[in-house]
Amino acid sequence: MRLEGKTAIITGATQGLGRAIALDFATEGASMLLADIQGEKVAQVAALIGENGGRAEAIEADVTNATDIDRMIARAIELHGSVEILVNDAGGSGNQGIQDITDVTEEQWGATVDVNLKSAFMCAKAIVPHMRERGYGRIVNISSFSAKGNFGELGTTAVRLPYAAAKSGILGFTYQLARDLGSDGINVNAVMPGFILTELGARVHDRYEELPEDVQERMIRTVPLGRAGRPDDVAKAVTFLASDDASYTTGAVLEVTGGR
Ligand SMILES: NC(=O)c1ccc[n+]([C@@H]2O[C@H](COP(=O)([O-])OP(=O)(O)OC[C@H]3O[C@@H](n4cnc5c(N)ncnc54)[C@H](O)[C@@H]3O)[C@@H](O)[C@H]2O)c1
Repeated sequence: MRLEGKTAIITGATQGLGRAIALDFATEGASMLLADIQGEKVAQVAALIGENGGRAEAIEADVTNATDIDRMIARAIELHGSVEILVNDAGGSGNQGIQDITDVTEEQWGATVDVNLKSAFMCAKAIVPHMRERGYGRIVNISSFSAKGNFGELGTTAVRLPYAAAKSGILGFTYQLARDLGSDGINVNAVMPGFILTELGARVHDRYEELPEDVQERMIRTVPLGRAGRPDDVAKAVTFLASDDASYTTGAVLEVTGGR
């Protein structure tokens, strides 16, 4: 029960990695506010956690919208009195496969950077005064192996260039914020997932299923550990960074890529 007595906000908690993080946090005793743009579905995740003896509430919120973010944080404080952990998971590369720079519109660039990078800045900016006041906080950001750039087929990534830029931006954001907030007792770290095969109905799973068999095979063959990642592989890394087992870890990037 490494998160007993702690309250966490997890964004993007309806499906995929965010959902797995929420389920793992529940087993570690955290109280949670699960936020997602898919209001009804995120409520189902919170209900599932409740049925299994955990503590989670849900809120519909768009993490690119400052008003929604303020509402999300106010609700978490209202429910639990304090917030110790923020997991910035909401994001993704969308569904429209685009490879070449000349095909990327300004709009796609803006939307991808907003949901993957600006959202982390805005959520952290809104919660930091509260964490600072309490002298305690854990912020975990989700980057991607795409931050280092990929070559060849798109695989399950959709609009690759702005996605790589945004996820790379998450690294700089994490390094700098960790230095800025160290003296406030707030640790800031990032997890860098590789290819994580999420559940049926989640974006990466569905994109993977649509790929030709030889492309699927290549995606696995390039992973030294010989398999796709599971959402729980990422969840365990996030739980570690959110817990006091990682008290002396800040400004770190934990790669969960199977060795790629
Ligand atoms: N699955 C992978 O292989 C992989 C690899 C590297 C990084 N990541 C990153 O991990 C995170 C989760 O990925 P996933 O595969 O679970 O994605 P997903 O698309 O299955 O889930 C993302 C969740 O975020 C929510 N969301 C999207 N935009 C939002 C917004 N504006 N406000 C609030 N919620 C919003 C969605 O509704 C969804 O529930 C993302 O940041 C993604 O970039 C995933």
